[in-house]
Amino acid sequence: MPRAVSFTLNGKPVRFETDDGRTLLWVLRSDLGLTGTKYGCGVGLCGSCTVVVDGKAVQSCRMPLALVEGKQVTTIEGLAAGGRLHPLQQAFIDKGGFQCGYCTPGMIMSAYGLLLRQSHPSREAVIGALEGNLCRCSAYKRILEAVESVAAAEGGRR
Ligand code: FES
Ligand code: FES
Repeated sequence: MPRAVSFTLNGKPVRFETDDGRTLLWVLRSDLGLTGTKYGCGVGLCGSCTVVVDGKAVQSCRMPLALVEGKQVTTIEGLAAGGRLHPLQQAFIDKGGFQCGYCTPGMIMSAYGLLLRQSHPSREAVIGALEGNLCRCSAYKRILEAVESVAAAEGGRR
């Protein structure tokens, strides 16, 4: 049965009508065209679909759309502002924190969720925040360097 869900997506109000049981991931990708959020495993094991909901990194493949009613959803497309990349996005470029790039949006969104809670997290906290994000290219060292460079700098939090 169709249900209307209203939420804020990357700072803009959205009202969306869809069948019960659809996940946030597929509404973002298929209906709203925000393909920066990636489909990997579909069962909560890879982190490629990570977005931030009300300040917390979540796996959108496991989140029924109905659960975002009234919430603030941020995807990778919502991070750049004023024509400038978010410091995390810039750091991934500067540090070469990717190879194929498929895991990158999810990695950045998990790191972004962490930096919303802690502007200068420890290495252990960064590792913990990225624990659920897999990189099949094994670029972990450079990914960690990218996130830590932002965690260590002023302006990582925005
Ligand atoms: S696609 Fe969501 S965790 Fe893998
Ligand atoms: S850069 Fe290829 S999966 Fe991480």
